Amino acid sequence: MLKDNRICRFDREGAEPHSAGQAGEYWNPMPPGGAPYPHRMRQEIYEQPDTILQTLGEWIDDLDSLIGAIGDAGTGTRLRRIHIVGCGTSYHAGLIGRYIIEKFVHIPVSVDMASEFRQMEPVLTRGTLLIAISQSGETVDTLTAQRQAKAQGTPVVAICNAVGSSSSREADAVLYTRAGEELGVTSTKTFTAQIAAICLLGIALGAHRRKICDVELETLKSFLAGLPSLTRRVLGKDHEIGEIAQTLTGAHGILYLGEGISYPVALEGALKMKEIAYIHAVGCPAGEIKYGPLALVEPGSPVVALAPISSMSGKILSTVADVKARGAHVIALTDAPAALRDIADVVVTLPPTHPAFLPFVSAIPLQLLAYHVAVLKGHNVDRPRNLIKSITGE
Ligand code: M6R
Repeated sequence: MLKDNRICRFDREGAEPHSAGQAGEYWNPMPPGGAPYPHRMRQEIYEQPDTILQTLGEWIDDLDSLIGAIGDAGTGTRLRRIHIVGCGTSYHAGLIGRYIIEKFVHIPVSVDMASEFRQMEPVLTRGTLLIAISQSGETVDTLTAQRQAKAQGTPVVAICNAVGSSSSREADAVLYTRAGEELGVTSTKTFTAQIAAICLLGIALGAHRRKICDVELETLKSFLAGLPSLTRRVLGKDHEIGEIAQTLTGAHGILYLGEGISYPVALEGALKMKEIAYIHAVGCPAGEIKYGPLALVEPGSPVVALAPISSMSGKILSTVADVKARGAHVIALTDAPAALRDIADVVVTLPPTHPAFLPFVSAIPLQLLAYHVAVLKGHNVDRPRNLIKSITGE
């Protein structure tokens, strides 16, 4: 009866329970009638304060129930390590998940692209939980990885947006992202919803295992509750980012720098730029650039640097200075503009937040940047060339 229990427990309070027959259905948080957005992608970027709220909404004051449901999946207190798999944007959410879960739960986390996980002989020891992240719940690589883990007796929690999808049906437990239907091929709102779901899971597990004290828990919950208004403030940077985009339409390559939890965000920003603006883009940890990618930098090379104050003790400032010394055109996104003003060419000031929640602040400007560059180049941002929304076949 675990399955039935699972389906009910993970559904939104008051919502109709979903059955396996409802594959592909979504819970739509938007009011009927639609909004006057020129593109679905733009609308979906703008929906993020709501979709984050909806994803957090049902659990933020009920973290014990979340743990109860994971406990049903056979992990609970016996949990010793977590392995995360996903593809593309969902993989990047998984990389962010590693920082969040290790920080709050203090257990080792590994993250693999599901397509690579399939090629390995992964050692999934007792006490391992596999988290499969997928917007559609139908991506063949993620599903295959999930099935491989199940076949080894490893419990699986799916983080999924499509209710009743294969991934959600086959998992031992499902944590739904409540992002609503994402029609644009490019993932935007589902990315931040996935991160919101991982934050919930990490904080819930951390509190349950007493790695987070009551005071810290209340602080984290109030940061979580503030995410919708925080992301709304970030969307207020849209016009400024649109102007920066005008300087990038002729770029042949863009380097995205980040460190710590901002590194996967740099990867995601680069992916967005590749898939809709068709500009070669590379995400690189700031501390890694001297080991090769620095050779790419020449006068005029665009570099996007994610430089939140919480990582200022790290490499990002010296790396920005290094690329600047080689003539790079540096666009810095930071909550500490004074530290960057003299070394970056353009500084976008972002609101401060808790270090664990930085991806919510930095991912949205990078989505907007790619969007504006692509629109300026005349691309169909909702239907990028060569790509489809869901890779369900080999
Ligand atoms: O449905 P999934 O999250 O499993 O999809 C995985 C990737 O196909 C997807 O994240 C893709 O990388 C994005 N749509 C790119 O924006």
